[in-house]
Amino acid sequence: MKILVIGALGQVGSELVGVLQEKYGLDQVIASDIRDEAPANWRYEKLDVLDKDGLRKLVIDEKIDWIFNLAAMLSATAEQNVDFAWKLNMEGHLNTLNLAKEGIIKRLFWPSSIAVFGPSTPKDQTPQRTIMDPNTVYGISKLAGERWNAYYHEKFGVDVRSIRYPGLIGWKSLPGGGTTDYAVDIFHQARKTGSYESFLDEHTALPMMMMEDAVRATIEIMEAPDNEVKVRESYNLSGTSFNPDELTKEIKKHLPDFSISYAPDNRDIIAQSWPHSIDDAEARKDWGWNHKYGISELVVEMLEHI
Ligand code: SER
Repeated sequence: MKILVIGALGQVGSELVGVLQEKYGLDQVIASDIRDEAPANWRYEKLDVLDKDGLRKLVIDEKIDWIFNLAAMLSATAEQNVDFAWKLNMEGHLNTLNLAKEGIIKRLFWPSSIAVFGPSTPKDQTPQRTIMDPNTVYGISKLAGERWNAYYHEKFGVDVRSIRYPGLIGWKSLPGGGTTDYAVDIFHQARKTGSYESFLDEHTALPMMMMEDAVRATIEIMEAPDNEVKVRESYNLSGTSFNPDELTKEIKKHLPDFSISYAPDNRDIIAQSWPHSIDDAEARKDWGWNHKYGISELVVEMLEHI
């Protein structure tokens, strides 16, 4: 089994690669990204997912079976780079889908996001199938990508698997350019300065998940037997859910002097259009998903390591 992780130096990739290496062997996992440098013990290839020929050559030369394509521009950054965000998020995805269509790879993982939902979506326990009217370029690209997943699976039998990630929180890697980044930054600032200025309003609740849960879900859906993966566009996935005020109260249980102030910016407008919580009954039923971390376990884990 040979695996290629694209976007391996990002928030998810930098944790996923290590877990895949442990499971499948150091030599079986090739990490790629657009940067020159990577951790010394990785098999690393510099690669731009938009370089269709370079990608194809690497996949054929290395006889890759599975691709995890994690290369994307996140919600807040994408709003500042609309054209490029669309190109990266869409063409990058189609480049890997086409490798699967040609039978060059056997299986593809591509993450979607809670950003596929929009202002008209029911906000609480958002169902798998509902109104989807994303109003960010990131959300539009993820929703279009989901439709391509369903299309490639139906028309060409492509084995693509996908999860709608909530905001992801981990201590090993930093997020970049997302609306949910506050929930990681807050821990670093709590340790460094004892206070944090939140760019989300205190009552803006979002679905969130500990990185360890997200990495486990990613590997579990890829390893699930084919007939268990019934939703091919992308699965709702839920861990926990909180707003900055609730997170602050939980942090204060451990750091009583921690303080927070609020200066909501345009990211709060994005967050207001997303769900508060997610109904992931289908992931639980189809391939046995079960989260481990609630808000209190998550806060303990973050403060233990930062
Ligand atoms: N965490 C992402 C973001 O905030 C959502 O998928 O953009």
